Amino acid sequence: MISEAVDLWDPEPGWLNTASYGLPPRPTIDAMHAALDEWRRGVAPWTTWDLSTGRARAAFARLVGVPVDTVAVGATVSGMLSVVGAALPAGARVVVPEIEFTSNLFPWLVHADRGVQIDTVPAGKLADMIDARTDLVSFSIVQSATGEIAAIDEIIAAARRHGALVVGDASQAAGWLPVEAARFDVLVCAGYKWLMTPRGAAFGYFSPAVWDRFRPLQANWYAGEDVPNSFYGPSMRLAASARRFDLSPAWFSYVGAAPSLELLTEIGVDAVRAHNVALANRFRAGVGLPPGDSAIVSSAIVSSAIISGDRPDAADRLAAAGVRAAVRHGRLRASFHLYTTEADVDRALDALA
Ligand SMILES: Cc1ncc(COP(=O)(O)O)c(C=O)c1O
Repeated sequence: MISEAVDLWDPEPGWLNTASYGLPPRPTIDAMHAALDEWRRGVAPWTTWDLSTGRARAAFARLVGVPVDTVAVGATVSGMLSVVGAALPAGARVVVPEIEFTSNLFPWLVHADRGVQIDTVPAGKLADMIDARTDLVSFSIVQSATGEIAAIDEIIAAARRHGALVVGDASQAAGWLPVEAARFDVLVCAGYKWLMTPRGAAFGYFSPAVWDRFRPLQANWYAGEDVPNSFYGPSMRLAASARRFDLSPAWFSYVGAAPSLELLTEIGVDAVRAHNVALANRFRAGVGLPPGDSAIVSSAIVSSAIISGDRPDAADRLAAAGVRAAVRHGRLRASFHLYTTEADVDRALDALA
């Protein structure tokens, strides 16, 4: 139940910026404090902290509905996508929305000099722009600046028709919107937003069909088939599964990731979605927008204020009222997660009134 679980968070009122970073529940902070204390005193082997990596991987797999051996752990979205970009042959064509967070754009653009063609197209036209020449389409399931939910069915159908790989970025979706990773060839997700992990934990679903297709460029001991026996020795012996794409983990990020993810799966994404969208719609109604379906609201309130001059201090007034939101493309971006309350929303609306 969200109403009970919410007692595990202690935000200062007015945090409307989970799209930048999510806030941890107390079990997450407690686990991190305990591990940091063990580190300080040198009383635990790293393998103790690493148990959390396995727990986080399993909870993420549950969250997006795939077997655990299809999930790799990493540190950033861009790092995980670098493996996919490097596998594109010269002359490959990649289609990406024209407004897209650059962690899902630069990993493709960096290959332009060897003849990889990147076409950035309007988000609403993504499915239409996939054709027989397309090798890969990559898009955010929820757009980070606008909160728009991508037309997943149409995009995947078009990609499958033309044999293009489908890469999804679930960083602004997983944790509040149900995500079925198995529909994608690769699905990446930063942990530090809606999954409420520390920065330094990211997850990647790699479908079995691509395991042999991508070179595990970050090959390391932790990605070995038998980790304790992968510390030394000349022969290459990476895991047969998606674990071959693992980065050796930032221990304390994963110590915090496990409790957050486990709590999230316990509460259930459907309940989180209902809660978040209801609050987003309360905010939308307050600023004169029709109801929407996203936990992220982009409102022209900041830019129109600047243009018309009638509310020159919209952003300042929010800040003065203790509301922490973001400005993206000259628009106010407010985001609502399970620890957000109606009082947080009303605080923002009062400041804007
Ligand atoms: C859609 C999306 N993907 C990825 C990221 C973060 O990427 P990285 O883990 O490479 O820093 C963000 C951060 O805002 C994002 O909004």
